[in-house]
Amino acid sequence: MTATASERPAIGPVKKICCIGAGYVGGPTMAMIAHQCHGIEVKVVDINAERIAQWNSDELPIYEPGLDDIVKGRRGQNLIFTTEVDEAIREADMVFISVNTPTKTFGVGAGRAANLEFIEKCARKIAEVSVGHKIVVEKSTLPVRTAEAVKAILAEATSGATFDVLSNPEFLAEGTAIDDLLAPDRVLIGGESEAAIQALVDVYAQWVPAERLLTTNLWSSELSKLTANAFLAQRVSSINSISALCEATEADVDEVAMAIGMDSRIGPKFLKSSVGFGGSCFQKDILNLVYLCEYFGLPEVADYWQQVVTMNDYQKRRFVHRMVRTMFNTVSDKKIAIWGFAFKKDTNDTRESAAIYVCRDLLLEKARLSIYDPQVTKAQIVANLEAVFQNGDQELSAMSRQLIENNVEVVSDAEAAADSAHAIAVLTEWDEFANANFAKILERMKKPAFVFDGRNTLKGLNLEELGFDYQGIGFSR
Ligand code: UDX
Ligand code: ADP
Repeated sequence: MTATASERPAIGPVKKICCIGAGYVGGPTMAMIAHQCHGIEVKVVDINAERIAQWNSDELPIYEPGLDDIVKGRRGQNLIFTTEVDEAIREADMVFISVNTPTKTFGVGAGRAANLEFIEKCARKIAEVSVGHKIVVEKSTLPVRTAEAVKAILAEATSGATFDVLSNPEFLAEGTAIDDLLAPDRVLIGGESEAAIQALVDVYAQWVPAERLLTTNLWSSELSKLTANAFLAQRVSSINSISALCEATEADVDEVAMAIGMDSRIGPKFLKSSVGFGGSCFQKDILNLVYLCEYFGLPEVADYWQQVVTMNDYQKRRFVHRMVRTMFNTVSDKKIAIWGFAFKKDTNDTRESAAIYVCRDLLLEKARLSIYDPQVTKAQIVANLEAVFQNGDQELSAMSRQLIENNVEVVSDAEAAADSAHAIAVLTEWDEFANANFAKILERMKKPAFVFDGRNTLKGLNLEELGFDYQGIGFSR
């Protein structure tokens, strides 16, 4: 049951935390809490035993600069990764829910609404095994009013356990997670119970300055997370829409971004035009926002935000069209080096990466792809390509499987990918790409040797002077 004011037990300082979900959010966030708060025992639990084993090994399941040192510094002391879910929940004063909430692929709201199955299972598990009083913290991004469902499930606990529910959305970006966690712009805590909010504030106050700790009501907190991601994605789609116009008018999108970014009302961040945004959050959260707006009878608002995703899809398609058009209207049987598969640099995460869609469309044009990413495994790349051809829950057709088997190779360095290739497509902005030996690469490529830079990372290298046909996003030369 959720506690009422009169029966609510006194809430002391948090001594034991359990985090359900050892993913890109739960892992780094809990590692940072353990690193900053030596007096708190932090247990990170997951039903995926392989993932937990990786967290306990030398090779962590996620690549994130700075994470290794923090995990290895606290692991086995006050940071524990385990599959003993029930025990960790039972012992904890505070339970974070940090499981995945992917877009639904079936049933009502398919393709838009968030799949809350994993959240609900966590809430039921907490209700089942808890004793005493617990503060349950929603860390995963959730539709507004999810806390209502979590509270309702917890209220059915038969053990007599009592609960407070808080929303504490995570704003870290992958690739910079450790810096973001060390010095967050803000930590947002939404809730109804002052004492529960204070307990969580006291955890963060051990390293985050007081003025960055923001408390709100539950629903504002839930909605703020969706809104922040929608605004960020909107900036990328806005500059990407302008990139198309730049290519038609001889303007340069990076110059336009610089000029508008110097207006302090606009600001310079998140104006980097690209082949399209990816990641586990932006598209999912906007689709979720769109679905919520429709649900609440606000079709105009829904249409407004839907356009951010539509523009992103257009940008990915446009990139492939430009490649095909430039390469004499056919890429069939041409070898194309794909440099980068992660959705951004400094992560091994490929969820919703633009590379998946660009590769799919190139394969549909019968191109041969040689893919290199410094952090993404071959198994991951093949799984992503199979999934995109599967299109939701459908079976992978024999033809698609053959296309992937015959036309995709994954190699272990950028130069090997470009060997005998007709073109290089840069899809992730990994720093190492700019250090490649382009003179040597040019020698070994088919001529004309095309470079399609989906991140404008090689723009300053004057590759045209070396003899490449270089094309980036949002400018024409
Ligand atoms: C995002 C939010 O930034 C973070 O606050 C939230 O907690 C989770 O979602 P993340 O998806 O990890 O973080 O990375 P982010 O840096 O936001 O990049 C998202 C995508 O947008 C990437 O594909 C990136 O390459 C792209 N992007 C970003 C651009 O194309 N141009 C930009 O100017 C910025
Ligand atoms: P995020 O980016 O939100 O962290 P991830 O997919 O990286 O998402 O991680 C979510 C983790 O949550 C996965 O490792 C998954 O196995 C775990 N998980 C999902 N449901 C449960 C559950 N009911 N109990 C424990 N762990 C769960």
